[in-house]
Amino acid sequence: MRRKLMKYGYFDDSAREYVISTPETPLPWINYLGSNGFFGLISNTAGGYCFYRDAKLRRITRYRYNNVPVDEGGRMFYINDAGTVWSPAFRPARTPLDSYECRHGMGYTTFESTKNGIRAKLTCFVPKSDACEIERLVIKNESNAKKEFTVFSALEWCLWNAVDDAQNYQRNLSIGELEVVGGTIYHKTEYRERRNHYAFYNVNVPVDGFDTDRDCFLGAGRAWNDPAAVAAGKATDSLASGWYPIASHMIKVTLAPGEEKSLIFQLGYIEVPREEKWESKGVINKKPAKELMSRYATDAQVDAAFAELAKYWEELLSKYHLESGNEKVDRMVNIWHQYQCMVTFNMSRSASYWETGTGRGMGFRDSCQDLLGFMHLIPERARERIIDIASIQFENGSTYHQYQPLTKRGNADIGGGFNDDPLWLVACTSAYLRETGDATILDHPTPFNNVEGSEKPLMEHLRRSVNFTINNKGPHGLPLIGRADWNDCLNLNCFSEEPGESFQTFGPSEGPVAESVFIAGMFVKYGLEYADICEHYGSKDEAARVREEVAKVKAACEDAGWDGEWFVRAYDAYGHKVGSNECEEGKIFIEPQGFCTMAGIGQEKGYGRKALDSVKKYLVNDYGVEILAPCYTTYHVELGEISSYPPGYKENGAIFTHNNPWVSIAATKIGDGEMAFDIYRRSCPAFLEDVSEIHRTEPYVYSQMIAGRAAVHYGEAKNSFLTGTAAWAFVDISQAILGITPTLDGLSVNPCVPAELSNYSVTRLYRGVKYNIKVKKEAGKSGLFVEGAAVSGNVIPLPTGKSEVNAEYYI
Ligand code: BGC
Repeated sequence: MRRKLMKYGYFDDSAREYVISTPETPLPWINYLGSNGFFGLISNTAGGYCFYRDAKLRRITRYRYNNVPVDEGGRMFYINDAGTVWSPAFRPARTPLDSYECRHGMGYTTFESTKNGIRAKLTCFVPKSDACEIERLVIKNESNAKKEFTVFSALEWCLWNAVDDAQNYQRNLSIGELEVVGGTIYHKTEYRERRNHYAFYNVNVPVDGFDTDRDCFLGAGRAWNDPAAVAAGKATDSLASGWYPIASHMIKVTLAPGEEKSLIFQLGYIEVPREEKWESKGVINKKPAKELMSRYATDAQVDAAFAELAKYWEELLSKYHLESGNEKVDRMVNIWHQYQCMVTFNMSRSASYWETGTGRGMGFRDSCQDLLGFMHLIPERARERIIDIASIQFENGSTYHQYQPLTKRGNADIGGGFNDDPLWLVACTSAYLRETGDATILDHPTPFNNVEGSEKPLMEHLRRSVNFTINNKGPHGLPLIGRADWNDCLNLNCFSEEPGESFQTFGPSEGPVAESVFIAGMFVKYGLEYADICEHYGSKDEAARVREEVAKVKAACEDAGWDGEWFVRAYDAYGHKVGSNECEEGKIFIEPQGFCTMAGIGQEKGYGRKALDSVKKYLVNDYGVEILAPCYTTYHVELGEISSYPPGYKENGAIFTHNNPWVSIAATKIGDGEMAFDIYRRSCPAFLEDVSEIHRTEPYVYSQMIAGRAAVHYGEAKNSFLTGTAAWAFVDISQAILGITPTLDGLSVNPCVPAELSNYSVTRLYRGVKYNIKVKKEAGKSGLFVEGAAVSGNVIPLPTGKSEVNAEYYI
């Protein structure tokens, strides 16, 4: 039964937190811990899992998919207070609490709860520069009497490879190995043979018992909500050998009235050089673990690490700061958009509560787009990522579709053939250059398919990306779609009739007929950006060559890509239109309306305005813009996965939030600030907080989709956190609407705002200089002023020898 609450918490903007007031949110509402290397997912009941770099290949703690009860596991704490067993984060004990609060902040999550006179505060975070998670539990006796109770911790080890861990039981149930020394439980499965890494779970006080064997801890037939050891108030000191290794501490606590005690738990990950693996035969080298433990052994150390994390985020978020007077826009721009951009940069679509971390690794197109919103935060890491991505490109310009973060090698299971992929490399490199001006990246020797000796400057990779489209066009002069373009579910060369076949990899990928108008839009936009890069840093001839090619595709698109009232989506393998008034279902698709208008295709002919009017007429609903209409009601073998979804879900007519910003940006392209902001606002999480009982996912981040009008549960969101919407929404509001856009020549100020947002200021750190920009309306004044003097055009000239620049823009 769904609860009828409008909200389940509130934003605390000054703390940069979302405060959740009930453990019974419609779905687990999650957060991410870690910024580089060690990561943890954590829900509002402390569920989730941890991994090092790669959620598939280096999983540290276990997670159960399709689990019931939902969200069991993760960081488990129990307090046995005179027979009443409860958990500070509500789960796993699920004993009703006297009070509960969870705060998801920037890289940390805290829980505060009370039960029978005991207050527990649990703070979980991953320190900025160490591979570990800190879980500090502070327990206070708020009653008038002395309290004697027992605290238990528990977590379940994953045997490293999360896929193998979930399926290869005949081997795995015999290989689990641990060592226990005092309050530290070391997980060393497979360390004897080929692994040179282990994990540990430690607490900074002497323990009164421990368990490492799940069956001993839980007891026969029992579950995590009610372990036998916890109920008995006594650990069994079990040593697991094979079966199911866990780590659990037992600590007896006595507190006088008003007294409090802090327990610091640490989950650490250690890599040891191969020649130094052992302390003695069979005994692992604990020196690096002890060093890591010694850095978080006291409250002062933990406080300092927590403060360092806060400072890190303070600095990151100060790079783009808005004061607009609109509370919701300010909170999204200054906090949650940028935060989600960091998460998508780190995770791509690999690990969330809805992406298991065992499937795809880093997506090529996904990661390229994630960079668009991340670029300003840490340009050095963006640079490294661009090179990693370009290194999975093939010599002919096409690319692997995904790679594993641990190995950085292309994923051969899915292969390539997604014909939009190469152009996204141009998009993110162009954004990097516009942000940093660092043209040395273009010279960086970058391999093809990671083959040593095949290195060519990154610029050559861009050329091959662009050439890939030029060399792969169909009968109408439009780019061939391959297996799919941005819309992974529009599979025009697949023709799958058997259940279980992958829509993405089945069938001939190199169909010579099926074409994508969307890729045409991309080619026009990013082909021109590539030409600008050539003009700026390379060859004018190359720029001219590509501009000619762009003109050809533009013409083809204005001709065969225009349907009269909107842009066509594609041509299928028979040469029939997809997304046309001629079709019975799927008459209009969102993607080309956004992208072709953004690219300026048919601008002189007013196509953009017409296309966006059609979007309003057919696709806009209460919560955003639907991906297509009318939805497919039957399976179309010639269209693939898109028609496999029930109407209103996913790519078949949901609001697939990723592409909503394209429409909003397109509206700014035709100068319609009201429409741009209206589209931005509709699907923006903070604006949907009031209907959380319908939306159901976290109100602080975007979800991949919101069910469309044709769906059974219209307005219900799914698959929160890992979506390209994060980056695009931030680009939309910060660059297209508010108008502060990096260009190759400097920072441009060119707002396209609605009336309600016509007076604001932005501080923007750009190429090491702080820009203070005020945008306002004043009678008789217009355009850009720098240090009080009028400047022609929109670009603030790059200052020399200054650390701060003041500019005004009059609308
Ligand atoms: C994929 C994207 C794709 C989108 C639309 C997402 O699940 O990660 O690469 O563009 O779906 O199909």
